[in-house]
Amino acid sequence: MAPDTVVEATGVVMRFGGVTAVDGASMKLRRSELRCLIGPNGAGKSTFFKCLSGQLAPTEGEIVLNGESTAGRMVHEIARHGVGVKTQVPSLMNGLSVHENLWLAARSIPSRTRSEVLTSVDALIDQLGLGPHVWSAAGSLAHGQRQIVELGVVLAPDPWLVLLDEPAGGLTRDEVERMAELVTELTARATVVVVEHDMNFVRAIAQTVTAFHRGRILAEGTAGEVLADERVRDVYLGKHHGEHK
Ligand SMILES: Nc1ncnc2c1ncn2[C@@H]1O[C@H](COP(=O)(O)OP(=O)(O)O)[C@@H](O)[C@H]1O
Ligand SMILES: [Mg+2]
Repeated sequence: MAPDTVVEATGVVMRFGGVTAVDGASMKLRRSELRCLIGPNGAGKSTFFKCLSGQLAPTEGEIVLNGESTAGRMVHEIARHGVGVKTQVPSLMNGLSVHENLWLAARSIPSRTRSEVLTSVDALIDQLGLGPHVWSAAGSLAHGQRQIVELGVVLAPDPWLVLLDEPAGGLTRDEVERMAELVTELTARATVVVVEHDMNFVRAIAQTVTAFHRGRILAEGTAGEVLADERVRDVYLGKHHGEHK
């Protein structure tokens, strides 16, 4: 693996009975890279994402994170080695405040002292602009705020690899831009993979994009290249879509 390659997936296949959700996907990510995975519903994005996080063990192929294969690793073991994951399933404790949710996540690093935990929570609240909401119950927040707190929970243990599945899902246009800004800032301290089909978000991020279709990688390149790619447009719009030129 090249010295600054921190994620290397090779020939990943994931089958569920007769369904092949991921059909031979390979990908390399450099340290501090921010990569968007796009593709229509059912393309295999979330399944590939779960293979990266260790939530699923690929049927074939290999995933190497920071020089170590994930084969035979449990998902919590991978998480403990600095991989932070936000799935499409909400994870906040609704009855607890924003501060408590972040505090619980921040103290999952055993080596941190009590004051280090509090300092890291304060820094996160600052960075994410959560000040006005710290003492609100997570369950009382609007959807857009919750998504930012969810991001905070992922970041609290200071992961080197951050995996986000549709962080902009259900956000307003302004919130999408804010989320894109926050995610872009993460590259200062982590490598980031984002699954997202909100094109405003992908354009706002404007980094390397990998387009999935039927479990395979259809195109890879800059956001501009991939979003202009005829095959990608066909897959999104449908070949017989009236507006397609
Ligand atoms: N646990 C599962 N069992 C059976 N089929 C699945 C499972 N997870 C995903 N699939 C199927 O795999 C394909 C890819 O799904 P998914 O990875 O969720 O796509 P995407 O995230 O791109 O929308 C779909 O056909 C989906 O129905
Ligand atoms: Mg998905």
